[in-house]
Amino acid sequence: MKLSQSALLAFAAAVLAAPSPTTLEQPAKRAAGCSSAVTLDASTNIWKKYTLHPNSFYRKEVEDAVKQLSDSSLADAAAKVADVGSFLWLDTIENIGKLEPALEDVPCENILGLVIYDLPGRDCAAKASNGELKVGEISKYKTQYIDKIVSILKAHPNTAFALVIEPDSLPNLVTNSDLTTCKNSASGYRDGVAYALKNLNLPNVIMYMDAGHGGWLGWDANLKPGAQELAKAYTSAGKPKQLRGISTNVAGWNAWDLSPGEFSTKSDAKYNSCQNEKTYITKFGDALKTAGMPNHAIVDTGRNGVTGLRAEWGDWCNVNGAGFGVRPTADTGSDLADAFVWVKPGGESDGTSDSSATRYDSFCGKSDAYKPSPEAGTWNQAYFEMLLKNAVPSF
Ligand code: GLC
Repeated sequence: MKLSQSALLAFAAAVLAAPSPTTLEQPAKRAAGCSSAVTLDASTNIWKKYTLHPNSFYRKEVEDAVKQLSDSSLADAAAKVADVGSFLWLDTIENIGKLEPALEDVPCENILGLVIYDLPGRDCAAKASNGELKVGEISKYKTQYIDKIVSILKAHPNTAFALVIEPDSLPNLVTNSDLTTCKNSASGYRDGVAYALKNLNLPNVIMYMDAGHGGWLGWDANLKPGAQELAKAYTSAGKPKQLRGISTNVAGWNAWDLSPGEFSTKSDAKYNSCQNEKTYITKFGDALKTAGMPNHAIVDTGRNGVTGLRAEWGDWCNVNGAGFGVRPTADTGSDLADAFVWVKPGGESDGTSDSSATRYDSFCGKSDAYKPSPEAGTWNQAYFEMLLKNAVPSF
């Protein structure tokens, strides 16, 4: 074969430019974040622009689960769960260490979801998620927990973050204030939530304060005091610009728009007009507006695929028969609902069923709770497989 000189030069250039086999084998590493600082406009629905990032910690849990499947025919479906966006829980000071590795692979079009969850005297009306900080350790919460997270988020201005602030905390003060534990936790919760909101109010962050679910603050008697409690935290935080509204159904089981709702035939249903989350965010949203707080919502649909499983509306622990729900999307059909998101990482337990454990809560021993279940936050392979098999829509 005879080549002209210019063809020879082009050939040589192509050979030189061709990647070596080792380069080809390496996975393409995506740069973290955007090329310039991110500003999230909290007067808009940012989920129309950003996709909830499938965080690398949940991805790893799911990938490990795929290797241990009891039924190998589930493998393809199980692997797909790793690609679903979900929130990363910063549930201890030590687990703040997960944050920097988790933001390494967040592309510019994605947003990393984080759950802020370490208040002193945490989970005051239950036992399963009692935390590391004791009542009174509010300065530790501020300086060793919130301040640390703030400095990491500030150091990564090119990455977008969505925060769920302290699940269940203020709702507990509204309905469980008669319990000594919640009475003791109250001032730390109020101070801590306000401090978190004020200090995490950064341009690359959008915040949602947790508002329980329709079966909790949706009761007629709770709507107004609930909204006032949250609005008070917003006001004491100096009305942070980046607070967009509320998160609901976190780690919960309620359907989005099932009508009539799951518990609508119960004798007390007349006292709760919020029988599904759609109605709840609308009614609670009205109350928030009256109380002077932003009222858009994100709703956890991670495990609400199957309904009709709970004996009582308040049953919250490892509900047996549950299935993964709708995948994260900004397509909710409701102006108030910014997005459906996965907050609770499906497969992680809500609490141990071991009645001899310190954090054993009797809800985790109820007849509608899956057993055996490990400590809250730890992986339950069998439960994951159940969620997968029962997923609606299926994988
Ligand atoms: C529970 C646990 C917490 C965990 C979270 C997500 O609330 O107490 O440690 O991070 O669930 O699974």
